[in-house]
Amino acid sequence: MKIAVASDHAGYKLKLGVTEHLRRRQIEYIDFGCYSQEKVDYVDFAVKALEAMARGECDRAILVCGTGIGMGIVANKFKGIRATPCWDEYVAEMSRKHNNSNCLTLGGRVLPLDEALLIVDIWLDTPFEGGRHEERLSKISQLEARNFKI
Ligand code: RB5
Repeated sequence: MKIAVASDHAGYKLKLGVTEHLRRRQIEYIDFGCYSQEKVDYVDFAVKALEAMARGECDRAILVCGTGIGMGIVANKFKGIRATPCWDEYVAEMSRKHNNSNCLTLGGRVLPLDEALLIVDIWLDTPFEGGRHEERLSKISQLEARNFKI
């Protein structure tokens, strides 16, 4: 499994902890930036990571901003992405078992590193349960083909 990783300035420090953890676990990743705490727009870095997924270069993404919300909003604009902001271990487990999350978003301003790493491990290691959840996800995929305007 290869992970596309990205952050903005608010997620930068937590992202460094996450990438160090991925290295320790010998999980391949590409860090699409940003590379410092200088202010940037989270949208730009989410797009870089998600385009790599869309090209098939990465299997999943971990995106970190201040809250995990902005990154999640951007990621869910991409067809086939099921991005899930996760703030605790239970939510992380469900995001895999029920939602087959392929993009974890984390909040660097709201999560301590040790808690974030527990979430990352659960998200990496928990399989999708399939079954009735598969049907629900297929309904979501069908929505992607429709052209809603608000
Ligand atoms: C940056 O200040 C902050 O708005 C961003 O990191 C993120 O939390 C947006 O959702």
